[in-house]
Amino acid sequence: MVYNNQFEVPWNNFKLDSQVLGKGVHGVVYKGVKGEEIIAVKTVREKVSKDVLKALLDELKIMIYLGKHDYVVELKGACTQFLNEGRVYVLVEFCPLGSIESFLRNNSYNFSDDLYANDYVSGRCVRRRSVTAIQLNRKDLIHWSFQIVKGMQYLEDKKVIHGDLAARNILMKSLFHVKITDFGLSRQLLNTDSYVKKQQGLIPWRYMALEALRDFTFTSKSDVWSCGVTLWEIFTLGTTPYPEMKWKPEFLQLLENDLRLYKPKYATKAMYKILTDCWASEPQDRPTFQQLERKFSEHMEHL
Ligand SMILES: Nc1ncnc2c1ncn2[C@@H]1O[C@H](COP(=O)(O)OP(=O)(O)O)[C@@H](O)[C@H]1O
Ligand SMILES: [Mg+2]
Repeated sequence: MVYNNQFEVPWNNFKLDSQVLGKGVHGVVYKGVKGEEIIAVKTVREKVSKDVLKALLDELKIMIYLGKHDYVVELKGACTQFLNEGRVYVLVEFCPLGSIESFLRNNSYNFSDDLYANDYVSGRCVRRRSVTAIQLNRKDLIHWSFQIVKGMQYLEDKKVIHGDLAARNILMKSLFHVKITDFGLSRQLLNTDSYVKKQQGLIPWRYMALEALRDFTFTSKSDVWSCGVTLWEIFTLGTTPYPEMKWKPEFLQLLENDLRLYKPKYATKAMYKILTDCWASEPQDRPTFQQLERKFSEHMEHL
């Protein structure tokens, strides 16, 4: 893929704020402004290797290729003029509520399992014990899940493998609107429907499908597995998957012996069935994102 210059934003046309929105092993995301608009700017730490820089450029190209979609974080531009000095800036839309993982873990909210209370307005703010808390219920969890599945269906259509789907990579534009981000491990598939990763590095093992852990084969079906784990995080309100475990090679064997995540408290049996379908050992036995979208639509109709 080539870089399309129409996205280039000169250094003087945007500003970085000192506020860091997030940090990874190699990258940093700052808050910033471009004209009147608040943005988020993803860049690399100082003195990173060429590979890290290339990874951010690849991520940029994937975002250009994906273009605009309701449930995918939108690219606002890129600044590549300091590439020779080892710096690249990727400008994206700002999502004020941060990642859904941190939202569910750190925010003050009340979760009500009472789905049918008729005086109930999903996502409203309530005051209880003198703190303002956001009121959430299962409807919100299902809406977010539906949006993630819709976004992933779009990626599937465009033949892009996300490769790192997780609640930390789902951002909240508002309480009612979530978006997929972090295409750092993504690939566009050309003339094949899978890719095998060459370098292993750090791996998101809690989210990886059996075959991805076994031989680093990634397909839309391995994204479906990761999507199931991401939805599990949502239905447990931000619990770490397999919380008591640390990485060990035997984890693969545990999955092969049918270890799976437990039923989240706020998932119905039918919802948990959808999640476990995403974790079928054989990739072809898992649903496609299109099928998942249909299942979630049915759930939404019954809300
Ligand atoms: N557009 C954004 N708006 C708000 N916060 C963001 C945005 N992009 C990233 N972040 C924050 O920064 C973190 C890291 O961003 P991400 O793109 O996932 O980078 P990394 O590749 O380092 O994981 C996210 O989990 C989120 O908390
Ligand atoms: Mg990330």
